[in-house]
Amino acid sequence: MCFQSYFSSVIMFQYLFIIISLSGAYSWTDNKQRRFKDDFLFGTASAAYQVEGGWDADGKSESIWDRYVHSRPEITPDGDMACDSYQHISRDVQMLRELGVDFYRFSIAWTRVLPTGFSNKINKKGLQYYNDLIDELIKYNIMPMVTLYHFDLPQSLQDLGGWANPLSINWFEDYARIIYDNFANKVPYFITINQPNSVCIDGYSGSFAPGINSKGIGDYLCVKNVMLAHARAYRLYQNEYKVKYQGSVGIAISVNWVEPINNQTENVKAAEIARDFTIGLYVSPIWSKDGDFPPSVKEAVASRSKEQGFHRSRLPSLTPEEKTLLKGSADFLGMNHYTTVQAQPSVKKYPSPSLEDDMLVDFAQSANWTQGASPWLKSAPFGLYKACVYLNLNYDYPPIIITEHGWSTGLGLRDGSRVENLRGYMTALLFALEDGTNVRGYTAWSLMDNVEWGAGVSERFGLYEVDFDSPKRKRSPRVSAHVYRRIIEQRIIEDTWLPSSLKMDVSMRRMGKDKSEL
Ligand code: BGC
Repeated sequence: MCFQSYFSSVIMFQYLFIIISLSGAYSWTDNKQRRFKDDFLFGTASAAYQVEGGWDADGKSESIWDRYVHSRPEITPDGDMACDSYQHISRDVQMLRELGVDFYRFSIAWTRVLPTGFSNKINKKGLQYYNDLIDELIKYNIMPMVTLYHFDLPQSLQDLGGWANPLSINWFEDYARIIYDNFANKVPYFITINQPNSVCIDGYSGSFAPGINSKGIGDYLCVKNVMLAHARAYRLYQNEYKVKYQGSVGIAISVNWVEPINNQTENVKAAEIARDFTIGLYVSPIWSKDGDFPPSVKEAVASRSKEQGFHRSRLPSLTPEEKTLLKGSADFLGMNHYTTVQAQPSVKKYPSPSLEDDMLVDFAQSANWTQGASPWLKSAPFGLYKACVYLNLNYDYPPIIITEHGWSTGLGLRDGSRVENLRGYMTALLFALEDGTNVRGYTAWSLMDNVEWGAGVSERFGLYEVDFDSPKRKRSPRVSAHVYRRIIEQRIIEDTWLPSSLKMDVSMRRMGKDKSEL
């Protein structure tokens, strides 16, 4: 090669380099192979009402979801039979073996085990079902991760006030004791409550079981009692079971990301307050230094309550003893993460009183993010990364297990959008891990299509498709099931492909300790 052509090819190379850099693609292709460590755990999840069926089989009593659906003719009672998992333990475990997961997260239906809601009467057949499921999992080296409560309160307890009654704390503790007595010897991970925000804020909005509309009042009573019920169940395990069985107990909290719609100060502030109302309300009592609800939420609800003529805040306060009980009451933070929303100060009128009216923030989602089959679900993988950084900075690097993340589609085995979503979020997770987030495991929601609460079987979240018209509820693997299996085997995200919504986050990536860096 003559000097002249060598020189021009160097120029050409530099020119190309600049073009690639400017296009933004270069920053992502650092050619570093990021890998999930060998002890990182992969799993998948379901919940009793969503998969079991057998709603009144073998002595099971009515739950608030049975009542809610059966009393609304506009809702198809898909949960009565659901995936019929009550009859299909071995097929369910076979799917988990096909995927090669380390653990299976499922929930126990309180009504199957304690039909009166109280611990005076134990339904042996109900216990047997879970015992058989756990044994089948252990036989194939799959760890059971048991959720004690995934939205399905016994209706008998709802009739006594449900979670708005402070005695529900005792009822839950008694139920937890029965579960620990029977299964602590075989179950290494317990999750007390799934998503207190759904249990309480949705549960008291009228559009989620128990279908009571007590916005801004019943929901806050519920939040306090559910958090305390969690803490008591945690302490019970610590005091009476931990030494012998060495298991871990956590809580699953919805940690969707809240981004300001743009960087204007008022939007940044709106995002901050929205995070306090949607995440901090549940994370702070356990992981903050004072074991209390976030100051911003306490202040907002107290001052709005006063304006409305209440003599005390609608958000009940926590006593010093309750704060001590709550503070540190989890071995891990179960993080359920699905999507991101964009915040700005509210211009809408919300019902008063209500959490929305206390928070005064409106939410949007970018038109550039891919839409899932559920109206609220858009794909924005950078949100998972940012949510992890947020937990680190505000709550001092808590141990995390991602207890749910998933995507909804319509019918069909070729679920390209789920594959794209899975790979994007897994890549974001690898970045979060590299930047010091203490995430020990990841759970794909869901093992199979199931009953998406009030939406029934219309929104499909499964790695496996379920044919709800077939008597045996035939299950078939989607493309995403194969992809997830391969990720678990290889522990990397193959190829350099990244979704555009993740690309825009590279400049925001950091490990700083300073909250303002978010
Ligand atoms: C719930 C699941 C639900 C999923 C998708 C989670 O918040 O725990 O029960 O199916 O979201 O909506």
